[in-house]
Amino acid sequence: MSKIEEICAEIEQFKVESAEKLENFRLQFLSKKSELQSLLSEIKNVPPEERKTFGQKVNELKQKAQQYYDEYKAKLEESEPVVASNNDLTRPAEMLELGAAHPISVVMNEVCEIFESIGFTRATGPEIEDDWHLFTALNFAPDHPARDMQDTFFVNQQPDIALRTHTSSIQVRVMENQKPPIRVICPGRVFRNEAITSRAHCMFHQIEGLYIAENVSFAEMKQTLMFFAKKMFGEDTKIRLRPSYFPFTEPSAEMDVSCNICGGKGCTLCKGSGWVEILGCGMVDPNVLDNCGIDSKKYSGYAFGLGIERMTQVKYKTNDIRLFFENDLRFLQQFTGM
Ligand code: PHE
Repeated sequence: MSKIEEICAEIEQFKVESAEKLENFRLQFLSKKSELQSLLSEIKNVPPEERKTFGQKVNELKQKAQQYYDEYKAKLEESEPVVASNNDLTRPAEMLELGAAHPISVVMNEVCEIFESIGFTRATGPEIEDDWHLFTALNFAPDHPARDMQDTFFVNQQPDIALRTHTSSIQVRVMENQKPPIRVICPGRVFRNEAITSRAHCMFHQIEGLYIAENVSFAEMKQTLMFFAKKMFGEDTKIRLRPSYFPFTEPSAEMDVSCNICGGKGCTLCKGSGWVEILGCGMVDPNVLDNCGIDSKKYSGYAFGLGIERMTQVKYKTNDIRLFFENDLRFLQQFTGM
């Protein structure tokens, strides 16, 4: 009997503030393994004359527990209403927002893949470079304008260190560390101290290529670049080489492709000429080979460097270079799935 009273007090004192506590209550007082249930099985040990009252008391207690349980349950459901939408298993799932590759990355990869298909491999290097890898090894004269603060971002108090102005610096690093034959493409970000306009930016992307072996000819370079232009812009694309000058190549040229925005008729991108300049190229100057520890009597090679933004503009017909760096999702999302 005292056990019954004990359990009765426990029931009354039990605090149910959560679904978890409610379940504990059920286990403790109402389940098959509860103390109440074990009291019932004690009935055979109770003297016969007391059995009736004992049975009644236990049953009352059971009802009391059940009543408390039902009340607690109702209260809990009231305070935590079941939100229908959370439990609606037929509700369509929320769409996962997928990002898209940036158009510059898309074109970078495309260019790299074309050159990789003919045996070039990718090389990378630091964006903060020293004078040797940026200029001196590449045969820049001491008074070349690229060494001027007006054209190049130098690190404060360190006139020898600058943000790289071209990825030719990677080519120097490759030549210093590898023996010919060398066949690399060097993609990367470059920086120039330029005013930002629709056609120019102080930061852009380049891919430079370098091929060094025995008896490399200008004709090989031209053929390789033509192969690239047709793969990139379509079989009908025409190329045009114009004589040019770079300190690190001799002879040097600039290459134009026929404008695929206007089909050669003339538009703002090609400035009415029907041609768009996409790269600089030339035969590696023997001085550069010697500077990098490659015997210029035995080896020759060609190099080229192309601007990714310009090519992306031709490919996707965008007329303002600034759009690539503003991170406006409305612009960037247009390239999804490309
Ligand atoms: N480095 C040159 C530039 O940044 C491009 C180039 C690379 C030209 C290789 C010729 C050969 O403009």
